[in-house]
Amino acid sequence: MSDLIVGIVGAGGITDYHIPAYQEAEATVVAICDPITERTEGQAEKYGIPNTFASMEEMLKECPEIQAVSVCVPNKFHAEVAIACLNAGKHVFCEKPPALNAQEATDMAGAAADNEKILMFDFNNRARPEAQALMKYIENGDVGTINSAQALWIRRTGIPGFGGWFTQKAMSGGGPVIDLLHMIDLALYFMQFPKPQWVLASTFEDFTGNPDFKGPWGIPDADDPIVDVEMAAHAFVRFETGQVLYTRNSWAELNKREEVSVTFQGTKAGGMIRRLFERDGIDETAIDDCELYVQENGKSVNRQIIVEPDEKMGREAAVINFVQTIEGTAKPFSQPEEAIILMQVIEAIYESADCGEPIEIN
Ligand SMILES: NC(=O)c1ccc[n+]([C@@H]2O[C@H](COP(=O)([O-])OP(=O)(O)OC[C@H]3O[C@@H](n4cnc5c(N)ncnc54)[C@H](O)[C@@H]3O)[C@@H](O)[C@H]2O)c1
Repeated sequence: MSDLIVGIVGAGGITDYHIPAYQEAEATVVAICDPITERTEGQAEKYGIPNTFASMEEMLKECPEIQAVSVCVPNKFHAEVAIACLNAGKHVFCEKPPALNAQEATDMAGAAADNEKILMFDFNNRARPEAQALMKYIENGDVGTINSAQALWIRRTGIPGFGGWFTQKAMSGGGPVIDLLHMIDLALYFMQFPKPQWVLASTFEDFTGNPDFKGPWGIPDADDPIVDVEMAAHAFVRFETGQVLYTRNSWAELNKREEVSVTFQGTKAGGMIRRLFERDGIDETAIDDCELYVQENGKSVNRQIIVEPDEKMGREAAVINFVQTIEGTAKPFSQPEEAIILMQVIEAIYESADCGEPIEIN
C-alpha cells in the first residue's frame, strides 16, 4: 500500500490513464483541478476523488497534504505548472512533450534539482513491456553499440481535429513531431542518449484542413479553426559519437497505414519494436512485433520476443513507475536531463525545417 497523496492538474482525456494507475498503485488521488467544472466533477464522480478545484493554486492551497502532482494540461502550460508545483515542494509527473522547447525543459529540470524533488515525464512507450524487454538486452550488452536507428510514428489519416489546441502551434509547440515524439524518445533511450550534434529536417503542410485526413478521435471542428502546424516531418540526426538517427512523423501523409516503430542496428544485434495498425488510430486493429537480429553459427537468426500485451501502451505502467520511484522501490523510466536532449532534437528539427539548413546543437 502506497501512502502517496496525489493531485491532478487538468481533467481531460489523458487523466483516464493517470487516475486509475495511481489507484492501482494504491496512492490516494485527493484532488483534481481544471477551469472546466464539468470535467473535474465528472472525473471526481467516476473515480471517487473528494476535492475539485478550478485552479492549481487553489488546489495546492486547500490540499497542502498533496505530495505529488500529475500535469495533464495542454503543452503550452507544462513548464509553468510543473515549475510551480516543484517550487511548492511536490514531486511532478508531467505529460509529454516535456515542454515547448529545450529552455523550458532545462528550467523544469533546474526547479526539480533546486527543490530536491522528482520530475518525471510520461514517456509511456518506454514503459511498454516490449521496450523494457529490449532494454534488458541493450543494458546487458547483447546489442553492442547502436550505430543507427530509425524512429517512425507515421499516420495516413490522423489529424487530431480542426480547431482544438493540438493544431495550434502556440498551444502545442507543433504537429506530429512534438505530439508523436514517443518513437524519437524511444530511439534515444535505446541509444542511451548520446549528445546530438547536427539535425537536418524538412516538414510538410499538405492536407492541412482536409477533413479526409482527420483522425477518428471525434474532436469537434471549429468554424474558423487555427491549424498552423506541420502535417509530416522527416529528419536526420547525427550525434557527437558518430551514431545516427532518422525520424519520420506524420498526421497526414500518403502512407499505407499507421506505423509506430523503432528499428536499430547494433554492433552485436539489430532489433525492432513495432506497432502496425490496420486502421489509423484504432488500437484494437494493432499488431505488435518485437524482434532481435543476430548472426549465429553462420546463420541469420531472428529472435521474436514475446511479452504480455499492454493495451494501455505503458500509460498506466509509467505512472506506477513514478509512484515506485518516489517510494524508492523502482528505477525511474525517465530522467530530466533526457527530456532536455529530446527537446533539443525537436527544437532543431523545427529550426532546420524553417531555415532549410542543418542545425548544430551546442
Ligand atoms: N502519453 C500519451 O499517450 C498522451 C495521450 C494524449 C495526451 N497526452 C498529453 O496529455 C496532455 C493533456 O492532453 P489531453 O488529451 O488530456 O487534453 P484535453 O484537452 O482533453 O485536456 C486538457 C485539460 O487541461 C485543462 N487546463 C488547461 N489549462 C489548465 C490549467 N492551467 N490548470 C488546470 N487545467 C488546465 C483544460 O481545461 C482541459 O480540460 C497533453 O500534454 C498531451 O500531449 C499524452
